[in-house]
Amino acid sequence: MDNNIDIILRTHDLVGGYGRTTILHGTNIEVPRAALTTVIGPNGAGKSTLFKALFGMLTIRSGSVVMDGEDITALNPMQKLQNGMAYVPQGRNIFPQLSVEHNLEFGGVSLRDLRETRRRMEAVYTQFPILKERCKKQAGTLSGGEQKMLEIGRAMLLEPKFLLIDEPSIGLSPILVQQTFNLLLGLRDKGVTILMIEQNAKQALNISDYGIVLQQGRLALDGTAQNVLNHPEIGRLFLGGAVAVESA
Ligand SMILES: Nc1ncnc2c1ncn2[C@@H]1O[C@H](COP(=O)(O)OP(=O)(O)OP(=O)(O)O)[C@@H](O)[C@H]1O
Ligand SMILES: [Mg+2]
Repeated sequence: MDNNIDIILRTHDLVGGYGRTTILHGTNIEVPRAALTTVIGPNGAGKSTLFKALFGMLTIRSGSVVMDGEDITALNPMQKLQNGMAYVPQGRNIFPQLSVEHNLEFGGVSLRDLRETRRRMEAVYTQFPILKERCKKQAGTLSGGEQKMLEIGRAMLLEPKFLLIDEPSIGLSPILVQQTFNLLLGLRDKGVTILMIEQNAKQALNISDYGIVLQQGRLALDGTAQNVLNHPEIGRLFLGGAVAVESA
């Protein structure tokens, strides 16, 4: 990233994987503060693995994760939450049998304070009025987009400064994709830093501030979303070609 960008989180030569398999081969990324940054890359590039590493769900063999000057590499997910990081994994992550309300309440369990949880739920409802309307409904009856909204709302309950979100648009209709992206942009405007993985690279980069391209567990390219979008190597990258590490 450009030198004068305010970076909230960076990784230094992150190495990790599953068992003996190494997926992250010395990954160096920088995430600009209060911006929406999209991570793209071919299937199996290690995007989701990187997010797991950032959130404390992967054993990191070497390297570090630094957020706001603090080394958070070794923190577990609960400690990451307490440090202001939230994570919305790929796929459906709600309790379909429970009401919307109870799903949200569950998101506040780590606060250990039901009154505070309820207060924050009202703030989530203000931000996402459709959830208020549907609060007594079984979460499983919501549309795909509403369920994603519920997941995002649940993550926002902890008032994170840094949100990791893995492929929010998967399985959503084009309108719901747009709505979900708008919702994320709204959070960005409130000062939340968002790091998002997207398959739908073009559409995601078009609404993002910055882009990061991962390839085989390494940074291939980063920079403003427009620069990444217009980079001549991007097409080739997605067809399996290789690019040198550089800053767009
Ligand atoms: N739990 C796991 N155990 C073992 N290997 C895994 C596990 N999860 C992922 N992998 C492997 O790690 C590699 C990177 O996977 P990852 O899910 O990080 O890729 P990705 O970039 O998110 O891909 P996609 O775009 O398909 O979501 C893949 O080869 C995958 O098979
Ligand atoms: Mg993935």
